[in-house]
Amino acid sequence: MSIVISPSILNSDFSDLRGELAKIAGADYAHVDVMDNHFVPNLSLGLPVVESILRVSPVPVDAHLMIEDPDRWAPAYAEAGCASVTFHAEAATAPVKLARDLRAQGSRAGLALRPATPIEPYLDLLPEFDMILVMTVEPGFGGQSFIDGTLPKITRTREAISAAGLDVWLQVDGGVSRDTVERAADAGANVFVAGSAVYKADDAAAEVDALRSLATEAHRH
Ligand code: DX5
Ligand code: ZN
Repeated sequence: MSIVISPSILNSDFSDLRGELAKIAGADYAHVDVMDNHFVPNLSLGLPVVESILRVSPVPVDAHLMIEDPDRWAPAYAEAGCASVTFHAEAATAPVKLARDLRAQGSRAGLALRPATPIEPYLDLLPEFDMILVMTVEPGFGGQSFIDGTLPKITRTREAISAAGLDVWLQVDGGVSRDTVERAADAGANVFVAGSAVYKADDAAAEVDALRSLATEAHRH
């Protein structure tokens, strides 16, 4: 299973996005958090800024849409060129149709679950998605503590993916750091979003490498 590192730019310096993105050229993706002040109590950025990011990012863009009505708004992010577009199960009306729309635009399709949202209703639909995002904090803000109570859901999701013989990625987002990345990897995650851990570090590139090494080592055991 490949290890994928996707640093979140949410807590980077938005006045210098080009410079902040350059720091994570050694990562696999740039995780871009879109928030609409309705689905979550925070407002970050939207499509025009994502289009600018797409023009200068050294790595593909992994868009995490924390917005209401993704059925209406998400396809434009795929059309703009995001390599992966993840929407929330709690907000989508027709998640399968939306995932198919995203894939038809050439993007990977991701389904995100808040900490209290179960994976079980979606297990039969796993083939429709390229990635499941198990939120390990309540979405909305960077810098929160990893919720260990999400680990059993990560394990159950990984077991279901393996049992079905699928190549669906399993992403964790929220509170991922050197202290927690191994727990998430042990539980079965293979895609790691880290915001403050990377951007608060003195050397963001070294932090990306450290997270990758720890996750790789955890998967070897
Ligand atoms: C939170 C966002 C995260 C956030 C993670 O709702 O989805 O991507 O940037 O930040 P950290 O890694 O600081 O918890
Ligand atoms: Zn995110």
